[in-house]
Amino acid sequence: NNHHSDARGALIVLEGLDRSGKTSQSGRLVSYLNGIGHPVESWRFPDRDTAVGKMISAYLSNESQLDDHTIHLLFSANRWEKRSLMEAKLKSGTSLIVDRYSYSGVAFSSAKGLDIEWCKAPEVGLLAPDLVVYLDIPPEKAAERGGYGGERYEKLEFQKNVAQYYKKLSDASWKIIDACQPMEDVEKQLKEIVLDCVKSCQNGKSVSQLWL
Ligand code: TMP
Repeated sequence: NNHHSDARGALIVLEGLDRSGKTSQSGRLVSYLNGIGHPVESWRFPDRDTAVGKMISAYLSNESQLDDHTIHLLFSANRWEKRSLMEAKLKSGTSLIVDRYSYSGVAFSSAKGLDIEWCKAPEVGLLAPDLVVYLDIPPEKAAERGGYGGERYEKLEFQKNVAQYYKKLSDASWKIIDACQPMEDVEKQLKEIVLDCVKSCQNGKSVSQLWL
């Protein structure tokens, strides 16, 4: 019953501090799921390929300066511009493994001092993930991992602050994985959790919306 007629794809979000391993793990997950016959794509936010994404990318590499509220809204707009494609993919039965989503949006902007409710507001109405997995790593450990690349937020003190806001945002539905474990162990745990979620979405239950 892998291919129930109204099977939809699952929306799975990976969150965590910079250098927590999200990007490597999402690549591995996609190969795994495709390999066992589940259509899946790997997505990431920010999506730097769009016009909005290019503004975000310039900001992150310090080539441009923007007001904190303005960049927050651009990150949100970057998710909104992908919303209909996201919905179409899920409806057609393709699962999405998404590297960062609204939780990054709120955690990073709140860590700068913006009001958390203000930060959540533009995310309301985006598609709600079926699963959020948090790759948990102490900021100090993440910083040791080959150092940060020098983008705007890749600073230990700031990442500590972001970690606090991720904690505030998390709820009992989040799956927390200890990202200090060897990569293979993280991968094994992720596969199990994610496959469960993909299967549970095949009954056609509808996609819900964020923060309503
Ligand atoms: P990346 O390294 O995963 O491409 O993400 C770029 C940076 O942007 C990362 O430090 C997290 C931050 N970010 C936000 O501040 N708001 C957002 O909405 C997203 C998706 C990322």
